[in-house]
Amino acid sequence: MTHPALLRVEQFCRQYQLQHPVVMAPMAGVTHHALPLAFSATGGMAAFGALMHAAPAMEDWVLQFRSQGGGPLLLNLWMPEPAPAVPQPDHEAALRGFLAGFGPEVPAHAADAPLHDVNEQLEMALALRPAVLSTIMGLLPPERVAQARAAGVAWWATVTTVAEARLAEAAGADVIVAQGAEAGGHRGAFVAAHAQRDAVGLMSLLPQVVDAVQVPVVAAGGIGDARGVAAALLLGASAVQVGTALLRTPEAAVHPAWAGLLAVTAPEDTQLTRAFSGRWGRALATDYVRAAAAPEAPEPAPYPRQRGLTTAMRADATSAGDVHRMQAWAGQSAGLAQAMPAEDWLRHTWQQAGALLG
Ligand SMILES: Cc1cc2nc3c(=O)[nH]c(=O)nc-3n(C[C@H](O)[C@H](O)[C@H](O)COP(=O)(O)O)c2cc1C
Repeated sequence: MTHPALLRVEQFCRQYQLQHPVVMAPMAGVTHHALPLAFSATGGMAAFGALMHAAPAMEDWVLQFRSQGGGPLLLNLWMPEPAPAVPQPDHEAALRGFLAGFGPEVPAHAADAPLHDVNEQLEMALALRPAVLSTIMGLLPPERVAQARAAGVAWWATVTTVAEARLAEAAGADVIVAQGAEAGGHRGAFVAAHAQRDAVGLMSLLPQVVDAVQVPVVAAGGIGDARGVAAALLLGASAVQVGTALLRTPEAAVHPAWAGLLAVTAPEDTQLTRAFSGRWGRALATDYVRAAAAPEAPEPAPYPRQRGLTTAMRADATSAGDVHRMQAWAGQSAGLAQAMPAEDWLRHTWQQAGALLG
């Protein structure tokens, strides 16, 4: 007899033309085509974290992906456009002093670096008609929901709490991506200031989101191997979204110093931090991350000013190969990540998860 979890999964896979219920996490900054193409080749869902791509660059990326045989694509954007953060010169002077201990002098206007226009990004995203438009940090406005629907693009909304899941369903989300606090990278809290307070683990979040909404739920956060995949499906997910576990694959092409440290990272060696961008995210607890969390360190500036302030340090760290100053995102299951080709990882993981589910 087929396990009931597998029936739900099969239905979801049919709807999205997948052979496995495994979705690549959209990861801004990890956007080489090789990883999503490997997901397409093995019947998973490919993804593109488009935050750092202006509309024309986004179009180029998608056209290249398609010209190389890419399949169903999840395209992800951060919503909504944040209200401009007010510069605080004295505080930022203290931050500049602190950052000087970790990298080159912070250029004068670094904190003013503009974000890409979200409306232009959304317009292009919908014109490109990916299988899925995924959002994080907030909801699509109603007119965009209608536009997505008319274009045949499904909207998957990332949430971090049950309350956010209810809001997303009411706003018309086709799928809820429940992101547990184990997750690597930024937390998707709708209210930035609540991201640390509402850090709910996936084991609690997932079944309660499943109970709270009628639409399918995709599980994200700390899923590192077949055991995590099977557990999430048993807790009610229709698919899983995996990020950190892929960062050691050659296709992810992350800096070797970052990939190498993941291999020896225990769950307690990651930390929620605002020190890179101004928004809470989970990273390796490196020297910089720990120092920035010390009581004597200045509070990070709001997003995106902190991102601008840390750009020079991050670039310098990457060219020096110094992971302790890099923006090295990592979820709590980093230690489970394997250095193996992504196609092998996906086939092996789904085969084993299937065996666990009988
Ligand atoms: C390097 C990195 C970058 C990320 N960038 C994004 C992003 O741009 N948009 C997004 O929705 N989620 C982003 N995430 C979060 C993932 O979508 C996902 O929620 C998370 O990776 C799941 O947890 P895991 O890392 O434990 O697998 C990122 C995660 C990582 C590790």
